Amino acid sequence: MTRRLLVAGNWKMNGLMSDGREFIDKIKKISSDVDILICPPATLIDFMVKVTKGSKLSIGGQDCHFEKSGAYTGDISASMLKDLGASHVIVGHSERRANYKEINKVVRAKATMVNIIGLVAIICLGETEAERDNGKMLTVIETQFLESLPEIATSDNTIIAYEPVWAIGTGRTPSVTEVAEAHRKIRELAEKKLGLNVAKRLRIIYGGSVNQSNARELFAIEDVDGGLVGGASLKAENFSSIIEAGTF
Ligand code: 13P
Repeated sequence: MTRRLLVAGNWKMNGLMSDGREFIDKIKKISSDVDILICPPATLIDFMVKVTKGSKLSIGGQDCHFEKSGAYTGDISASMLKDLGASHVIVGHSERRANYKEINKVVRAKATMVNIIGLVAIICLGETEAERDNGKMLTVIETQFLESLPEIATSDNTIIAYEPVWAIGTGRTPSVTEVAEAHRKIRELAEKKLGLNVAKRLRIIYGGSVNQSNARELFAIEDVDGGLVGGASLKAENFSSIIEAGTF
């Protein structure tokens, strides 16, 4: 079973129109077999969808509300992201879980809405440093996975991003053995929940301080199907090197 590698950039709250144009001009020239996704701030989605039309780049959102529409000032619905041409939506990022108290139930509701309207949900999960130090890494992964996964999840509408919280933006990454263990665990859980065939096709990507130097080693790990890249996705040169690292 070969799963296509996905290299996804999460720009978080970074990027203005001028950044988007320059970035896309450089990335569009790359020829690579990996799937490439950029999740800019919502304000840039419309523009980036238009300038990437005809290329192999996809554009996604970083979050959405779990309701289709309604009185939720400041929020964005999955349908609105779809309307702009987004193909994926990140849900349950640890920054949302920590800063906005998004619990697994909320993450599942958001992922379900993303799936209902026909987009792919990238569900983030991962342990904090304290949880890891207390030997709870695998149990945290298990709970988050089982409680955040929608009932309607398939390998076509769902991607799991394993992002250890302590590795995000810190320049620290788990060892190859640790990443392999976490991803294997997620695939085993997926097999129990979704069956062997779906589990084999499900993409499980790694996030947390992925950069030009470590990407090749991380992407070569069994059960790692690409990366969710924060800081290193903001500069086209760095992001291109990471995409190239996925071309074996
Ligand atoms: P960094 O790559 O900056 O560590 O961020 C990872 C991340 O949070 C991607 O969603």
